[in-house]
Amino acid sequence: MARLKLVYNCSDCGASFPKWAGRCTSCGAWNTLVEDVEDPANDISSLAAGVALLAASPAQRIGDVDVSHGSPRSTGIPELDRVLGGGLVPGSVTLLGGEPGVGKSTLLLQALAAWPGRTLYVSAEESAQQVRLRAERLGAVRPELWLLAETVLPHVLAALDELQPELVIIDSIQTLVDPELGSAPGSVVQVRGCAHKLVMEAKRRNVPVILVGHVTKEGGLAGPRVLEHVVDTVLQFEGERHHALRLLRASKHRFGPTTELGLFEMIEAGLHGVPDPSALFLADRQTGIAGSVVVPTLEGQRPLMVEVQVLVNEVKGEAPPRRSAQGLDPGRLAMLLAVLDQRTKSPVGKRDVYASVVGGVRITEPGADLGLCLAILSALANTPLPPHVVAFGEVGLGGEIRQVPHASRRLAEAARLGFTRAIVPAKSPDVDVSIGVERVANLRDAMRALGLTVAPSDR
Ligand code: TYD
Ligand code: MG
Repeated sequence: MARLKLVYNCSDCGASFPKWAGRCTSCGAWNTLVEDVEDPANDISSLAAGVALLAASPAQRIGDVDVSHGSPRSTGIPELDRVLGGGLVPGSVTLLGGEPGVGKSTLLLQALAAWPGRTLYVSAEESAQQVRLRAERLGAVRPELWLLAETVLPHVLAALDELQPELVIIDSIQTLVDPELGSAPGSVVQVRGCAHKLVMEAKRRNVPVILVGHVTKEGGLAGPRVLEHVVDTVLQFEGERHHALRLLRASKHRFGPTTELGLFEMIEAGLHGVPDPSALFLADRQTGIAGSVVVPTLEGQRPLMVEVQVLVNEVKGEAPPRRSAQGLDPGRLAMLLAVLDQRTKSPVGKRDVYASVVGGVRITEPGADLGLCLAILSALANTPLPPHVVAFGEVGLGGEIRQVPHASRRLAEAARLGFTRAIVPAKSPDVDVSIGVERVANLRDAMRALGLTVAPSDR
């Protein structure tokens, strides 16, 4: 009988420590260490058992490797396929992470219904009745969609033997338990142990498996981060609580790039793909309002036209000015305000500045700098920009406008949506797109091009 050992595992990164501490020295997270029991014999024996299931693979010349085998199979959901680089690879294990309520179960139930063969949905959280009712709402009740409300891993494996499904969803990995592991459900040992076994099963059966993992900020459950190195693909499902928009990204993908973005809208009948996000984001736009600029931004390979809005207010009394950034990095906004102050002498110091990206999108790339600066200047000047103008470029600390990648893709998207003028960095390469391109070397050039004049600050 092996001796059980008391350990403390970080619920965020999975690092293990012999003693409790307030902070995980591995990932730096606070209050994430939780007590757990580790059974070394168990870990080794389960791993050995898993390895025994796999046939030994001989070494071969790299040119002899058969690549036709591992090609992805479409999920029937174009936005999911886009992120996965075509679909799910047989035998692969994908982790879908996201906050509770973001729509993970909904997305996967729709994926199961769209899959052409037999599929199994293992619901370790909701009852079969709850899942059925949801499936009815989604129009996902199909004869070959099988449902198993079960939390015990060996029972799940028995169902795999019996049903031989071609796609398996485990919802969620944190609520699954393996009695052999002798640790609390949701603990790092359980989550990692169950995931290990499911990975072996996926490889052995050559069937794709998707694991759902809830991300909790409090670290009460073992976070999906402990599984990142166990699985082939890690997908993140994100969205603002009060917006219908949902974004799907890959943060790890063994079978393709991690740059693609999938977009969905949560509506009454589930998640709908958004093939033309730019049109969606610009649908409610009003022209002729000061402080609004359209920016052709890029999410991975995907061009997105978004509207950046800025409102400025004079600060009353001695209160420090307020700065609010929605969908933008507050640090970047602060930096750009400092650049505007120094390089254009604009009176930003005594103004509250509210900046926001419309539609629930988050912009993280510097290509939106110029658009944000122009929105601030337009708000300060109380002068709307001409309606068919877009702007992109990175703004340096000297007020210079720097090149950003994929100018042609950005301009093509702008032209497609009917924009006729683009303010771009001076050194931006020539492109073959039918849109009027105006090159600017610095912020003052850009202001001149758009007829923006701001009364200098009276410091
Ligand atoms: P869900 O898929 O249960 O989220 P998760 O599995 O990530 O916890 O979806 C939760 C939310 O989605 C829920 O608050 C209601 C909403 N929703 C819709 O708006 N339309 C629908 O058709 C469905 C099924 C859910
Ligand atoms: Mg769910």
